[in-house]
Amino acid sequence: MDLTVTIGSGTLPNPVGVASGTFGFGEEYGRLIDLSRLGAVYAKALTLEHRPGNDTPRMVETPSGMLNSIGLANPGWERFRVEKAPFLRDMACPAVLNIGGKKESDYLELVEKCEELDCHWGYEINISCPNVKAGGLAFGTDTHQVESLTKKLRPLTKKPLIMKLTPNVTDIGEIAKAAEAGGADAVSAINTLKGMVIDTKKRRPVIPAGTAGLSGAAVRPVGVACVYRIAQCVSLPIIGLGGIFTADHAIQYLLAGASAVQVGTALFVDPRIPLQVLEGIEAYMDANGFTSLKDFHGHF
Ligand SMILES: Cc1cc2nc3c(=O)[nH]c(=O)nc-3n(C[C@H](O)[C@H](O)[C@H](O)COP(=O)(O)O)c2cc1C
Repeated sequence: MDLTVTIGSGTLPNPVGVASGTFGFGEEYGRLIDLSRLGAVYAKALTLEHRPGNDTPRMVETPSGMLNSIGLANPGWERFRVEKAPFLRDMACPAVLNIGGKKESDYLELVEKCEELDCHWGYEINISCPNVKAGGLAFGTDTHQVESLTKKLRPLTKKPLIMKLTPNVTDIGEIAKAAEAGGADAVSAINTLKGMVIDTKKRRPVIPAGTAGLSGAAVRPVGVACVYRIAQCVSLPIIGLGGIFTADHAIQYLLAGASAVQVGTALFVDPRIPLQVLEGIEAYMDANGFTSLKDFHGHF
């Protein structure tokens, strides 16, 4: 059975990775599960500067999901290089660096710096960050910004370049086309959906930042529909995520057109879920006589 997934210049050993922000930089989870079974670890967002993150509470449970507003808390480039990169370099599965920034030059500078390291397989560019230069509108909501950023990132690396798309747009297919036009190797979708929970006793939002990102089972149908739409618009590989808890959920994404998937919020329920998802995909392929993911991805 061939479970490998090719994205640009790179190959992943299998299609099941873990989503950025739900797995840290892998060290803690490495004590709980066999990392060598994962297709990839998509690391926590990295920014040039250390970010302590937003005020607490940063998370609240919602019907079949959760809202979070972590605020890209991360150690910043300097500490990442010293404290986190060595673990990722020696990790038994590919590491994908999730890159954040507030303006175009932040992303470019950080990718240039990361190119000095040998700890990673590729990049996932988190374009859900608000662009301070464009008045706080997220990079990923504007086709021109997405194409421009991708075009400028492309010459900086030969490693796989994945643009991570937000579902908070009118047509995610148009955004995916902009990423393709800019030279991306793949897109991943979806990042969180914008949501809000209000504490009626205190008469203010539960999360101090106000709105926050919705993830978990509740967003799965949105994610599957987004992947299906993107697959109609581009020929790039798509990495599908949002609410995957079981192999059936992952297979929905693969049938909708994804080449690979990521498990995120489900990790908070049980860190073994990504491995169970992979085993379930293998069992599904076995039961249906499929020998390669290409036999069924994008077919229904
Ligand atoms: C606590 C938390 C932190 C997250 N941090 C990041 C991040 O740093 N960068 C990023 O691109 N996505 C981040 N995400 C979004 C997830 O990677 C994923 O796109 C989203 O949660 C949908 O997948 P899920 O429903 O399986 O969690 C975060 C999600 C959660 C729940």
